[in-house]
Amino acid sequence: MCIYIVFNLVLLLLVSVKKMTDCQADGEGANSPMELYEKLNAQGEKVRSLKTAKAEKAEIDAAVQLLLKLKVDYKQMTGNDYKAGCPPSENVVMSDNGPAADGADDEDTVDPWNVATSNAKGVDYDKLIVRFGSSKIDQELVDRIEKFSGQRPHRFLRRGIFFSHRDMHQVLDAYEKSKSFYLYTGRGPSSEAMHVGHLIPFIFTKWLQDVFDIPLVIQLTDDEKYLWKDLTLEECRRFAVENAKDIIACGFDVNKTFIFSDLDYMGASPEFYRNVVKIQKHVTFNQVKGIFGFTDSDCIGKISFPAIQAAPSFSNSFPQIFGGKKDIQCLIPCAIDQDPYFRMTRDVAPRIGYPKPALLHSTFFPALQGAQTKMSASDANSSIFLTDTPKQIKNKVNKHAFSGGKDTVEEHRKYGGNADVDVSFMYLTFFLEDDEQLEKIKQDYTSGALLTGELKKILIETLQPMIAQHQERRKQVTDEMVQQFMTPRPLNFNF
Ligand SMILES: *[C@@H]1O[C@H](CO)[C@@H](O)[C@H](O)[C@H]1NC(C)=O
Ligand SMILES: *[C@@H]1O[C@H](CO)[C@@H](O)[C@H](O)[C@H]1NC(C)=O
Repeated sequence: MCIYIVFNLVLLLLVSVKKMTDCQADGEGANSPMELYEKLNAQGEKVRSLKTAKAEKAEIDAAVQLLLKLKVDYKQMTGNDYKAGCPPSENVVMSDNGPAADGADDEDTVDPWNVATSNAKGVDYDKLIVRFGSSKIDQELVDRIEKFSGQRPHRFLRRGIFFSHRDMHQVLDAYEKSKSFYLYTGRGPSSEAMHVGHLIPFIFTKWLQDVFDIPLVIQLTDDEKYLWKDLTLEECRRFAVENAKDIIACGFDVNKTFIFSDLDYMGASPEFYRNVVKIQKHVTFNQVKGIFGFTDSDCIGKISFPAIQAAPSFSNSFPQIFGGKKDIQCLIPCAIDQDPYFRMTRDVAPRIGYPKPALLHSTFFPALQGAQTKMSASDANSSIFLTDTPKQIKNKVNKHAFSGGKDTVEEHRKYGGNADVDVSFMYLTFFLEDDEQLEKIKQDYTSGALLTGELKKILIETLQPMIAQHQERRKQVTDEMVQQFMTPRPLNFNF
């Protein structure tokens, strides 16, 4: 989990990239406000890249002329001024030929297989809380976490990146009465390549482990990847080990952390497998089909997979760690698109005599191209990867990070930029620790004092050392260490 089945997204990305290219060649003939809006976005991007590349003046002038003409057309068609990041209507999801578009639906699409929104600011998370029936992580909850952990809340909590929860208050109530809990998170290892977005749940889980001093289990769903992707079992197993190294490099405490590959652990732990079949027995085909959108041609393995992702939510799946106790509370930090798995898990839990796992949900990490999409591990330009060199980071941010800035320096100085849709600014909210500095950047960008190039430079200088340090730590991770983390064994905790 926490990597996503992305074929649809990749398609969406390809579709939108193609459309952009189309419209750069031709400014005429937009049929809808959305089409015109996309042409404007593309043309603005073109003007910016020509300027960055210090192209011929005549070429830049021609591109600016076309941009201005499109703005006039847009005003005529919609009655409003074109504004980057504000599409003409929320209804027009990814326009007409994306696979996720079904016309009348103005809701964001969020499930383990699809994430789609028409809004450049990203998914409407308040609406999602209502739709999913979870609870908002409000200031009161953040304050309680601070009180019980004794630590300043992590920036992901201070900034609403972890924004939604299920039953976190109950977890803290019990913790207050000296009843502790364990953490469970995971990853679907579909390739060796992990990007910075994949680190979000792990960075946060590491913080929770440290401040609450609790055990953690990390599931690598190599079996799921085998079922869904065109990969051999050996490849899936190898990706699991490679990904485990990146996970270990996040700094988890070996004495408190168990990382397991399903392909290995399922066969080694009868207790785990018993929970899998118990769950399977209590979930109907329609339940999983409804939640996960399986089709009639899906193989049986795919359909029973959700039970395997549910099983680590129950402490007796890990007898070496919890000595067979079945009632230790589980807390799952994950991205919100994983919630359907755990809604099902929570549904089943009381029927098989187990406590429901609690959840902390994060927002999505945006693709460099903008918050309408999640990143795709198969598009190197959609994200910053953990293997990127300083130079690659610089080029990707400069060339591909969607900008909320104005098209010309003059306009930008006069009207300011839009930090809400600016991907460089969004990335800084994830990774820049200093709240005051972040706020100042936002103000300066909004006022026009800070230019897009300067904002990108701050991001580049934040990411370069962060990625370099990760690579350095990963180099220190030996095969023996991986082996240690992946061996079922007692963990060191004090419940
Ligand atoms: C883990 O436990 C062993 C044995 O008690 C100890 O030697 C080692 O320092 C511990 N490692 C960490 C990272 O705390
Ligand atoms: C990524 O972007 C670079 C230039 O910005 C381009 O040369 C390369 O072809 C792109 N790669 C993909 C997979 O689109």
